[in-house]
Amino acid sequence: MHLSSVLRGRLDGVSDVWRGDHPWAAFYDFMVEHERVGRTLWQAGARSDIRLLYTAAAEIGRVPDGGRVLDVPCGGGVALRGLRPGQDVRYVAADIAPAMLERTLGAAARRGVRDLVEAVEADVERLPFADASFDLVVSFTGLHCFPRPEAAIVEMARVLRPGGVLSGSALLNDTGVLYEPLRIAGRLGGLLGPSGTRVELAHWLAAAGFPDASIRTSGALVYFRGTRA
Ligand SMILES: C[S@@+](CC[C@H](N)C(=O)[O-])C[C@H]1O[C@@H](n2cnc3c(N)ncnc32)[C@H](O)[C@@H]1O
Repeated sequence: MHLSSVLRGRLDGVSDVWRGDHPWAAFYDFMVEHERVGRTLWQAGARSDIRLLYTAAAEIGRVPDGGRVLDVPCGGGVALRGLRPGQDVRYVAADIAPAMLERTLGAAARRGVRDLVEAVEADVERLPFADASFDLVVSFTGLHCFPRPEAAIVEMARVLRPGGVLSGSALLNDTGVLYEPLRIAGRLGGLLGPSGTRVELAHWLAAAGFPDASIRTSGALVYFRGTRA
């Protein structure tokens, strides 16, 4: 079989690999939850500062009372560090992998925010929420794991109210040839989707209703943030 058709099959099946709790998922979660380990490995593998992820997650703690937050994909719950115990928000953690949702609920309990968190098994392309039902959607280290990142952005925009914020990060394709081995290994391993370039991401965001989104590069990754028009 031709290499490109093998790769195409891998890209299309990426959500199934994550749903099945690939061993990388538990390792990845351990890495991002332990700041010292995460900082070292992210710096070594992606020349990216993991503290940008924690800083971006801190926006959750600034959501006004009564706010609604969607974290998709929540993974093992790394973004929960932004949530304050007793904060008056509804926090929905969504992921395609039941094992990741279990990890998120464990992390929520350890962080004293279990009562604020609802875990929902969902595919990012078919979120079981009404239009405009969230004030903040966070999507960290997620787009590159999806088979159709542009469709995921459209769906996240749908559930966000006008004036609400989408904040996320992703491993993109044009952040440097240095990271090509990482991207190729991730795709051959079935864990990475097609992702896109910074120009494509800006276009997807603008088309989905985020005309002024910012995109900041950190090594192999970018951090993006936009307000829904
Ligand atoms: C690299 S992890 C990132 C998780 C977390 N946001 C973080 O930064 O640690 C990618 C996550 O995407 C989830 N995922 C993959 N495909 C998905 C899909 N189609 N819909 C929802 N979640 C998906 C995986 O189960 C995994 O938890």
